Amino acid sequence: MKKEVELRKAKWLVEPGCVVMVTSGTVDKANVMTFSWQTPVNTADPCLIVLAISHVRYSYELIRQNNELVINVPGEELLEQVHWVGQVTGRNVDKFKASGLTPVPAKVVAPPLIEECAGHLECRVKDVFGMETHDLLVCEVVRALAEAESFDGMWIPEKFHTLHYLCGNRYGVMERSVEAQGTT
Ligand SMILES: Cc1cc2nc3c(=O)[nH]c(=O)nc-3n(C[C@H](O)[C@H](O)[C@H](O)COP(=O)(O)O)c2cc1C
Repeated sequence: MKKEVELRKAKWLVEPGCVVMVTSGTVDKANVMTFSWQTPVNTADPCLIVLAISHVRYSYELIRQNNELVINVPGEELLEQVHWVGQVTGRNVDKFKASGLTPVPAKVVAPPLIEECAGHLECRVKDVFGMETHDLLVCEVVRALAEAESFDGMWIPEKFHTLHYLCGNRYGVMERSVEAQGTT
């Protein structure tokens, strides 16, 4: 038996990919926010990722100042920090200091990487599509970095557990992969 789902809750049927932490600003004045509404576009060169960001976020202001950001991939062990930086605005609080996350300089862009995360995508905003409450930022990845023992062309879920946003304060944890037997 299937049940009707209210349209305002329909988005929760399509889990949007691993939760990430996006850094903006500069190493000296950095901010971090949690994201789950992002998707890679299936293009190889350039590598593009679309982020949906609300206009009211402090990060939105910072990102639009220099059109640069870093997408950081946290593991399960960062659950509490992930949830907290996704609840509090950086307008009045230094979220790096308060959460104990460590900003380290990126190579190509101004915003820092988060040391405790296992993957990093340094990005420049290439295009912006405005919507009523959110903008879609089309980001070009200009440098990518991943923890060598957890990533060999894909995350190895037996070694590194990405978080997946379910709703409210519930997260799923990626713990295993399965292999299809058909032709690839
Ligand atoms: C799991 C999770 C996912 C989130 N995804 C998004 C998102 O994709 N886009 C967005 O605009 N806000 C998202 N948020 C909300 C922001 O992270 C939150 O409002 C944050 O406090 C903004 O910080 P800032 O004002 O310092 O930029 C998410 C929050 C959580 C907890």
